[in-house]
Amino acid sequence: MNPSKRRTVIAGNWKMNFTPAEATAFINEIKPMVAGKDNCDILFCAPYVTIAAAMEAAKGSNIKIGAENVHFAPKGAYTGEVSAEMLKAIGVEYVIIGHSERRQYFGETDETVNLRTKAALEAGLKVILCLGEVKEQRLAGITDEIVGMQTKLDLADVSAEQLKNVIIAYEPVWAIGTGLTATPEQAEETCATIRRVLALMYSEEVAESVTIQYGGSMNEKNAAELLAKTNVDGGLIGGASLVAEKFTAIVDAAQ
Ligand code: PGA
Repeated sequence: MNPSKRRTVIAGNWKMNFTPAEATAFINEIKPMVAGKDNCDILFCAPYVTIAAAMEAAKGSNIKIGAENVHFAPKGAYTGEVSAEMLKAIGVEYVIIGHSERRQYFGETDETVNLRTKAALEAGLKVILCLGEVKEQRLAGITDEIVGMQTKLDLADVSAEQLKNVIIAYEPVWAIGTGLTATPEQAEETCATIRRVLALMYSEEVAESVTIQYGGSMNEKNAAELLAKTNVDGGLIGGASLVAEKFTAIVDAAQ
């Protein structure tokens, strides 16, 4: 875990789960379980229609609520999309961008991920930027090239000042929702690679300050080992973020 000033962030990604009522019940359940655990930031990214209820339930606690995506235009003819201004207007602070499910199933590219990232940052949101290689790329030995390219393209024209509001989530696509987790060594190596690319793009100092999470089947059993690595500064958690005991155990592993 980050030895320096980097903030550890344990974030849940609820994906397409939880109605407003279910989110309220979940937050009410987990709130006392994570109360006072302040060595890490704790947040859940929720479906758009669930955000308001989750925020209401989380009021006054150490839990923050974010969104799972955001469009790059301020407004206009983009049926089904939500703008950064709209998220800001309801008090959202964090947004996930570039999740592999968005890239795989909804045609998002490094270009649209970059546009969304810049729009979110310009609106004052904090971004959790997801990137990672697919299985064939890992097997072909080109993981470093892939994550390096994604880091450069997704953060094109993002200033060092804006980067202060960016968390990077390294999520090997083959590990997401599969039960296959990267080994702590694999997670460490690739997070370190991303940090080296950031050092080239910005500076050593800037790169050292960026929180880089690991995501992909992180759970209550493997979290401690993953979070113990120098360059792994937190987790982005899917499945295990839907079960209060499991998520709390991950928060405990980060303490
Ligand atoms: P998982 O999902 O923990 O269910 O693998 C992680 C993610 O998609 O962010």
